[in-house]
Amino acid sequence: MTSSSTHANGVAQQRPNRDVIISVRDLVVGFGDKTIMKGLNLDVYRGEVLGFVGGSGQGKSVLTRAILGLVPTRGGAIRVFGQDRDALAPLERRALEQRWGVLFQNGALFSGLTVKQNIQMPMREMRDLSQRLMDELAMLKLELVGLSSDAADKFPSELSGGMVKRAALARALALDPELVFLDEPTSGLDPISAAEFDELIGTLQQTLGLTVFMVTHDLDSLYSICDRVAALAEGRVIAAGPLETLLASDHPWLKAYFHGVRGGRLTAARVEQKDEQWKPAPTTP
Ligand SMILES: Nc1ncnc2c1ncn2[C@@H]1O[C@H](COP(=O)(O)OP(=O)(O)O)[C@@H](O)[C@H]1O
Ligand SMILES: [Mg+2]
Repeated sequence: MTSSSTHANGVAQQRPNRDVIISVRDLVVGFGDKTIMKGLNLDVYRGEVLGFVGGSGQGKSVLTRAILGLVPTRGGAIRVFGQDRDALAPLERRALEQRWGVLFQNGALFSGLTVKQNIQMPMREMRDLSQRLMDELAMLKLELVGLSSDAADKFPSELSGGMVKRAALARALALDPELVFLDEPTSGLDPISAAEFDELIGTLQQTLGLTVFMVTHDLDSLYSICDRVAALAEGRVIAAGPLETLLASDHPWLKAYFHGVRGGRLTAARVEQKDEQWKPAPTTP
């Protein structure tokens, strides 16, 4: 199957649906004598929202940082947009890095800078733009993430949790990326703010045609905006596919994860909807 898509140069092209944007093969990452990734494989396809789940401390952030080239790897290959970062010259690497935006797990914003200055950071580093243009762009980004222009001159400490995440998202979108990494974007938000943030990501993904790699513990996010879910356990991706497939899996880790404490957050309606998958699989003697 093919789908029509448009290149930056405006030429419509036929390309396979499953255009791989991030490819991770046999990845090994460790710190000291501790091995975190033990031959991890993962593909992320163009235009999808991939939800990445896994227990705390399993390496979700480490994988994110490894893909971004921020932690050294011990083996395997990582290609983003078909390019191997390590094989690139510094200028090419810089060009590659401008094609993605990141919302890190913690320290989403620089506390000593206003929201506007935070959003302009990547522009200042990567582009040569006039202050006036950067001001206009910052306002556009604020509008994109649903923040009013009043937020521009505020410091992060003056914002609610939901607004900080939105401002951080605005910064991640500063350079009009095609790919966005979100590391637990809704953690620490109340359920309503989290749902609103999910909706925002879903809307932006569709209007901007983004590919989204999202680490999350939030089952609501997995339900509402993720096209596929990949699960990390013991240094490998143990399953990747539609959430329904993972929910129906007999894998002990997946069962424990989805049916455990966090599974309790599922609303009755959703459990009913998914009732078929929640029935215990027939056991063979
Ligand atoms: N820079 C580092 N140096 C040493 N150990 C690290 C470093 N970064 C992460 N780790 C370890 O790697 C493991 C995975 O961490 P992390 O990816 O943050 O987990 P999570 O899945 O919760 O995001 C943890 O045991 C953490 O302590
Ligand atoms: Mg983490």
